[in-house]
Amino acid sequence: MISVCPLVPMVPESKRAAANGGRVPLAVRDKQRTTSAFTGTYDEGEICKLLAMLSSRMALRRLQRIAVAPLSFTSGATTKVLRDMSTLPRVYVTRQIPPEGLKILQDSGQVQFELWDSDDVPVPRKELLQKVKGVDGLLCVLTEKIDAELLDAAGSNLKVISTMSVGFDHLSLEELKKRGIRVGYTPEVLTDAVAELTVALLLATSRRLIEATHEAKTGGWGTWRTLWLCGYELANSTVGILGLGRIGVAIAERLAPFKVNKFIYADVGPRPELAKAINAEYVTLDELAKQSDFLLVCCALTPETKEICNKNLFSKMKNTSIFINTSRGGVVNQEDLYEALSTGQIAGAGLDVTVPEPLPTSHPLFTLKNCVILPHIASASYSTRNAMSALAANNLLLGLRRQPMIKELKLTLCSDSAFLHFDRTSADARVRCGGREVGRPLFISYPPLSLRSRGPARLEEEEEAS
Ligand SMILES: NC(=O)c1ccc[n+]([C@@H]2O[C@H](COP(=O)([O-])OP(=O)(O)OC[C@H]3O[C@@H](n4cnc5c(N)ncnc54)[C@H](O)[C@@H]3O)[C@@H](O)[C@H]2O)c1
Repeated sequence: MISVCPLVPMVPESKRAAANGGRVPLAVRDKQRTTSAFTGTYDEGEICKLLAMLSSRMALRRLQRIAVAPLSFTSGATTKVLRDMSTLPRVYVTRQIPPEGLKILQDSGQVQFELWDSDDVPVPRKELLQKVKGVDGLLCVLTEKIDAELLDAAGSNLKVISTMSVGFDHLSLEELKKRGIRVGYTPEVLTDAVAELTVALLLATSRRLIEATHEAKTGGWGTWRTLWLCGYELANSTVGILGLGRIGVAIAERLAPFKVNKFIYADVGPRPELAKAINAEYVTLDELAKQSDFLLVCCALTPETKEICNKNLFSKMKNTSIFINTSRGGVVNQEDLYEALSTGQIAGAGLDVTVPEPLPTSHPLFTLKNCVILPHIASASYSTRNAMSALAANNLLLGLRRQPMIKELKLTLCSDSAFLHFDRTSADARVRCGGREVGRPLFISYPPLSLRSRGPARLEEEEEAS
């Protein structure tokens, strides 16, 4: 059933139409009255008539606030009629994002959007390249590669990209910068969820929980044994963090009560403001590998961090160490990790992220008892995914209004065409070029309120703030 809710042009789904002999089940809801104005199965001609009825019954302003389910006509007259109804900016949403974000887009009255109506299957590349043609804004998730090919397909109308992720390794930042396209992303709202999951993964790996439940279920549980299923504990340990950003700090805060003895970290340079909060010592990457009982990877995936966790790093780690990665799969050389785990070079690994995703079930890492693999779920809590969706929607709307986004990635090209990026709300933001710190950004005054404590951000609040 297609639900037509206030805001964006109504479009039935071609697949369903085809399965239904060209007729499409449709509900047009008058949101103000919360009743269905029309419900039934309609063909394209009938839908045109319904739209005509709607337009005669409602004032223009109201009409522009009519959202129509984000499903698309394949072609033809109806599409044309719908286009003519509105001059609102066009937006393509590459996934069925959680309801908070969709509601914000719908209720804004500011855009007409179409979305890939599935959460299970990413939009096929070919379809995406078609759908982005002429759009003003794009709301994407991390499965979509936003590169020169896509930006060429979109054309010069495209001014804003909003990704529902804090990671931006799927975006070709140089291309975006070159074309003057602004980028919104979703830091902070997911920090708690990711930190919590990282702690869960660490404990599951170090205390061998997955192996243990398997043994209990499959008859391996004999008598109580002195060294059976022993693991490694956090008390008195040294925890090393590679990339002490928001998530790294949040993880350390959660691990401290486990009586960790010492936190150390490696980054592109010391981060004293953040390190102070968790009493962490800055060390080189080599020292991080050598000293850590638990090595947690929390850095962004960039050209500099690609496969930074490789044979060289694993060979310096203790054979009692636990390696945890909840950043991006690309920071790890998986062949080297397999080697380190299978030869006992390190004790165990917990991965939330891999290359590729999904990791094929035949992958050698799945054969190892000392490797716990999760399907990229670190931010997967209902409240966080809704907050990410809301923030991504608001970033997009603000960008289209040429206002400062709530969370915007500022991009500046260096002479060597490496990019600079910084988050203007970060307390100790530094401007970096190719991993080198080259200065501090000019701060734009912005309310440093936690979006989490305020609940999902709403556009109206940000209007006041900006
Ligand atoms: N598994 C998931 O579902 C999930 C969810 C959210 C975020 N993430 C990943 O976590 C990453 C970190 O998120 P955050 O909010 O803490 O970002 P952040 O920007 O606050 O922290 C990233 C840290 O990595 C550091 N870094 C960058 N290049 C480095 C290098 N060459 N060597 C060492 N450190 C380097 C940065 O200086 C920074 O301190 C994201 O980029 C994202 O890829 C994964």
